[in-house]
Amino acid sequence: MSITNEEELLGMKKASDAVALTLKEMRNFAKPGISTRELDLFGATVLKEFGAKSAPYLTYGFPGWTCISVNNEFCHGIPSPTRILQEGDLINIDVSAELNGYWSDNGASFVLGNDINQHQKLIQASQEILHKAIFAIRGGVRISDIGHLMETEAKKRGFKVIKNLAGHGIGRSLHEEPGDITNYRDPFNKARFKKNSVVAIETFISTHSTYAVEQNDGWTMVGNKGGYMAQHEHTIVVTEEKPIILTELNQIWL
Ligand code: CO
Ligand code: CO
Repeated sequence: MSITNEEELLGMKKASDAVALTLKEMRNFAKPGISTRELDLFGATVLKEFGAKSAPYLTYGFPGWTCISVNNEFCHGIPSPTRILQEGDLINIDVSAELNGYWSDNGASFVLGNDINQHQKLIQASQEILHKAIFAIRGGVRISDIGHLMETEAKKRGFKVIKNLAGHGIGRSLHEEPGDITNYRDPFNKARFKKNSVVAIETFISTHSTYAVEQNDGWTMVGNKGGYMAQHEHTIVVTEEKPIILTELNQIWL
């Protein structure tokens, strides 16, 4: 969507606070021994306190409130009572929701407890790349130039990017135009970021794979060549200067 007045900005801010605080509180709640289902239900209670509804459930009938992906799972992991979190797991939580007609989206990868499996370098790369990408965005910048920046920064750190996952416009629904804010330079994408538009910018930084493939459950995605992926995501408003980071309360850069 494009922000045209104060009321729309406030609506987006409230929806963004809801998803950002839910993500932050879910990260704090995550601990070894609990299931991803328990973690999801905790997230559901936080979203409900805001009056927010799960965006993937509303949009796609996703069987959960939030997407929780563990270790070799890249994204869209289904919360499960049998998936028990362990020390050192690489966890991705993606929280998107609708509140009063406004939609916002954010996500983060993190290590549970001590980094015994050495995922921190991948996570830090993803956090840094999201930061660089977001602060290079302003009205008139080509979307493909941001993709180029993200892939270049990933390569510099010894990582790859996933080609078939992308950031997206958002606001009045979960996925809006522009649709393909990729992590690489798409030579066919001539579109530019527009001032006042709301977009969800997300990284997909990986150790081995360059494509995400769907599992038999119809949701969970893993890498075409295995390995691990880290994702960090903010919903922002594009301006003529540095963007407004609507989901900043998630504190994913701290
Ligand atoms: Co998301
Ligand atoms: Co998104």
